[in-house]
Amino acid sequence: MKCLVTGGAGYIGSIAVKELITKKHEVIVVDNLSKGIKKLVNKKAKFYKLDLTNYKSLSKVFQKHKPEIVMHFAGYKAVEESMQNPEKYSDNVIGTANLLKCMNENKTKKIIYSSTAAVYKPHNKTVTETDELEPNNYYGETKRICEQMILWFSKIYGIKYTIFRYFNVIGDGGLNYIDPEATNVLPIIMEVVMNKRPELQIFGTNYPTRDGTCIRDYIDVIDLVDAHIKSLNKANNEIINLATNSGTSVKELVSEVEKALNITVPKKNKGRRAGDPPTLVASNKKAQKLLKWTPKISLKKSILATYKAYN
Ligand code: UFG
Repeated sequence: MKCLVTGGAGYIGSIAVKELITKKHEVIVVDNLSKGIKKLVNKKAKFYKLDLTNYKSLSKVFQKHKPEIVMHFAGYKAVEESMQNPEKYSDNVIGTANLLKCMNENKTKKIIYSSTAAVYKPHNKTVTETDELEPNNYYGETKRICEQMILWFSKIYGIKYTIFRYFNVIGDGGLNYIDPEATNVLPIIMEVVMNKRPELQIFGTNYPTRDGTCIRDYIDVIDLVDAHIKSLNKANNEIINLATNSGTSVKELVSEVEKALNITVPKKNKGRRAGDPPTLVASNKKAQKLLKWTPKISLKKSILATYKAYN
């Protein structure tokens, strides 16, 4: 299949490109390299440095390659930044609008879209796909708007979609991607382990959870990419959570790292970070059923893979 991958030089996209190439697909990558790293893009893929907000350049790539399918990973994703610089995050919407326009003009059949847990209204039960949506930050709102655009383009033009709502993605797919501006907890813990930061600040220890710290559903990036590959010709017009069905608190995550690496991580209890829901854990039953997919990689393995990437 001829597959165009946006964000194909990024953390998740670069692994997807590698897997697609391994499975003998033809791959075209577009990435603005704002956080992507060009050398991670498999040499067998065609690469274009461009920003999705540039419709003209994007359109030329579509006209030249006529992709059959799009995997759309590109987008800004830092929750806190989206509340300080919303204009930047509007590009998530503009880029997706341009992409859908190009897909329609060039008869691309399907989009596989990276959405997020941040579209849901926070509550303390296990999240399912039919739960109410109510993003509580602008990043989540841009993803919800893009989901809606995709649904409408599907209704009006018949473009097929699989929308994946990612929970907390961790691990490394063998390409050693290091986030140049880490904001997520495991990369930050690794920076502490590597002496690039003095300590981990634990944001909030008085949440209504088993140990007072926030609980998240950590899913390995290899399992996540596997679901994308499986959806190339399955799960059409479906919205699917990618999660493990089980939660880990910040304190539990730190202690897993300490056990796996046999070290002590310096840490300090801090106040809550604005906008953090206490618990975010999702059911993955729908993914299991529609994709015959199940996450296989343990938390310990993800931690060890991340550590390896930093060394
Ligand atoms: N945390 C700390 N210290 C840190 C960083 C994070 O204690 O230095 C805590 C956070 O407060 C939170 C947990 O670790 O309780 C996880 O935080 P992350 O920043 O790693 O992840 P989030 O759950 O905030 O965000 C992730 C994705 C977003 C997505 C969101 C969905 O990174 O893209 O899940 O809610 F939108």
